[in-house]
Amino acid sequence: MITEQTLIIGANSDIGKAIALQTQAEKNTALILISRDFSNFDNADFDFDTTKIKKITVADYQAESIDKAVAQLAAFDSAPISRVFVCNGVLHNDNIQPEKRLEDFDAQAFLQVMTSNTLTPMLWIQKLTPLLTGKSPCKFVLFSARVGSISDNRLGGWYSYRASKAALNMMVKTASIELARRAKNIKLIAFHPGTTDTPLSKPFQKNVPTNKLFSAEFVAKQLLSIVEHAPLDQTASYLDWQGESINW
Ligand SMILES: NC(=O)c1ccc[n+]([C@@H]2O[C@H](COP(=O)([O-])OP(=O)(O)OC[C@H]3O[C@@H](n4cnc5c(N)ncnc54)[C@H](OP(=O)(O)O)[C@@H]3O)[C@@H](O)[C@H]2O)c1
Repeated sequence: MITEQTLIIGANSDIGKAIALQTQAEKNTALILISRDFSNFDNADFDFDTTKIKKITVADYQAESIDKAVAQLAAFDSAPISRVFVCNGVLHNDNIQPEKRLEDFDAQAFLQVMTSNTLTPMLWIQKLTPLLTGKSPCKFVLFSARVGSISDNRLGGWYSYRASKAALNMMVKTASIELARRAKNIKLIAFHPGTTDTPLSKPFQKNVPTNKLFSAEFVAKQLLSIVEHAPLDQTASYLDWQGESINW
């Protein structure tokens, strides 16, 4: 019998897929994956469209598309959603490269990074909260990064990515203060996975020692354990892959 649901947003990310693969065997949990594209699962041993696993394809992450996805979600099984993972995040793409110096800063690229890394997760917090509020515990994870810590910034560079994750952290912290009054069952976690071998970090792995470059599978396992043990304390946490607190 299904007693709870887990939601993975931006599920085509390598880490999102690893979370999905590790949770699909849980007997009482239904899994709902949301993405623009599920091609990463093509060669994975993963059964979509069973009673336990559902997918929702979004055209993009604009507010209207998120509204449609949330309406679809609301129509599914009524088991409470106990875990949410918002994996969305962009560091580089065909139009964007992280800045090394002030001259590299580009207004359009900045807006794109802020949109995908801050606005998109914030819209999910806003639009999912009515579905999550209730008596059952819900751990809600937003993928952040250590470079979003203002107090930890010693190296500089990566203006847009750093700013987008710092802004996401502020959204998470601010939402947690409101949810402490309105939805005591929801625990928000801003999570730093560590440097993980995925398309996002690929061009920047050269100077990372082998023992500091994690597999998506390792990070997913760490995160699932962190989520299981996280207390419902009406406070936002900013945690790394070891479950250690990062200074905001
Ligand atoms: N890998 C690392 O070393 C590392 C380190 C620190 C933090 N992180 C964070 O961890 C999270 C997962 O990253 P990953 O390494 O698994 O990366 P990935 O495999 O490259 O996944 C990219 C993710 O970003 C989403 N995305 C791509 N373009 C987008 C856009 N324009 N608007 C909104 N969402 C978009 C994708 O959603 P779809 O499923 O719809 O494609 C997918 O969820 C990110 O938030 C990243 O910032 C990663």
